[in-house]
Amino acid sequence: HFFNKSSLKLKGKTVLITAGPTREKIDPVRFITNHSTGKMGYALAEAAKKAGAKVILVSGPVQLSPPPGVDIVKIESADEMYHAVMNNFVGADIIIKTAAVADYTPKVSYEHKMKKQPGDKVIELERTKDILSELGTKKRNKILIGFAAETENVEEYAVKKLKAKNADMIVANNVKAEGAGFGRDTNIVTLFKRDGTKIELPLMSKLEVAHKIIEEIIVLPKDLES
Ligand code: CTP
Ligand code: CA
Repeated sequence: HFFNKSSLKLKGKTVLITAGPTREKIDPVRFITNHSTGKMGYALAEAAKKAGAKVILVSGPVQLSPPPGVDIVKIESADEMYHAVMNNFVGADIIIKTAAVADYTPKVSYEHKMKKQPGDKVIELERTKDILSELGTKKRNKILIGFAAETENVEEYAVKKLKAKNADMIVANNVKAEGAGFGRDTNIVTLFKRDGTKIELPLMSKLEVAHKIIEEIIVLPKDLES
């Protein structure tokens, strides 16, 4: 029944989706990452494809196969994701940033495996570029959807991100909640839209959540550009 409402409503549209974690290399054998498995982003790619869109999926390293008919761009680091997104941004009508992008990356990525030394070791980090924020400054009439994975103050942080990143909608979840979060097949999310609307969804499969997000994107007012 999820297919009916959105069936082919995205025909002729290009949807750019990012999914999964990023990997920030410390040296050839070590990296910094997070618990993202890509399930929510891959479900969104499937739902957008079912709705008739051309789908470009920019994916970090995950254990999933891309849904049939979806164009996959594989990346590892936040910087590679940034460039893959920017390369595909112009032709996209809708951008959904599901990916759990690393906020920090090692200042230096060593060519050879680091060796133990006496005493403590500090790895210096620097901030990565905020891809969603940058898209927010360039969006024009494109639809921009962000995610917010939180462990506390979900609504406050989600609404802050919605405004700070100039998104049309933020999909927020409490990754500590039972039935939600990393690696699961289910999720409990709340959608926060630019017009102040808040839609609290019950526990659903990630694919059902994805179809619901696509339905809500389809009915977003298009004249809210800024
Ligand atoms: N995001 C991004 N580029 C980054 C960091 C985050 O595009 N370098 C995007 C994510 O893909 C997500 C949204 O911004 O759609 C929110 O990510 P999140 O990590 O929840 O928020 P941050 O702004 O990074 O803030 P913090 O981690 O401090 O809560
Ligand atoms: Ca972050």
